[in-house]
Amino acid sequence: MALISPSMLSADYVNLQRDIEMTEAAGAKWLHIDIMDGHFVPNISFGYSMVKALRPITDMVLDVHLMIDTPIRYVDEFCKAGADYLTIHVESDTPENIDATLDRIIANGVKPGIVVKPKTPAEAVLPYLHKCELVLVMTVEPGFGGQKFMADMMPKLKALKEMIDTHKPGCHLEVDGGVDMVTAEICKENGADVLVAGSAFYKAEDKVAFVKSLES
Ligand code: DX5
Ligand code: ZN
Repeated sequence: MALISPSMLSADYVNLQRDIEMTEAAGAKWLHIDIMDGHFVPNISFGYSMVKALRPITDMVLDVHLMIDTPIRYVDEFCKAGADYLTIHVESDTPENIDATLDRIIANGVKPGIVVKPKTPAEAVLPYLHKCELVLVMTVEPGFGGQKFMADMMPKLKALKEMIDTHKPGCHLEVDGGVDMVTAEICKENGADVLVAGSAFYKAEDKVAFVKSLES
């Protein structure tokens, strides 16, 4: 059984509260929030004030994906803003600082996650896995919604599922990028239990059916 985490990057910002309420009404238990700094990735989205604004209007689990350089500078703010899961890129700082950043997230009482870009191998997660509650595998280059799913990430997903089963059972394994009703099946077959879907979810005519399909 998998969970969907709709990415509100693809929501209608002019009618954001309506779209967040509609997302929750469709049955989603998690909400994915993409934070981009225009430096770690070539796009800018929004900051911790978005997390703070959304917190009081939904009971969904706030799954915050930081695509920012040197995230230790900002994790306290994201935790205080109401993130439930706070996920940092393994490529976004030195190994010492990544470790310290995960510790800082834990000290704030928030669940830490680690994410790998497509070119980063599964092994990069291993030194941090014992501290993580979530591992995120990018199935597109981070930065933009609406890109094509990279099926060649599936061996890495499977390898991470095995690592999690061995070293950190219960840790979530999430995929992000190009997930729709078809590619979700491939991700589940390879071990994913949380499925981020941005454009496919917000474009779906029948969102209840979309959630049910991904979570079946
Ligand atoms: C991309 C973001 C994704 C994005 C996914 O860098 O991390 O969360 O919103 O969008 P889709 O599902 O459209 O690929
Ligand atoms: Zn994301």
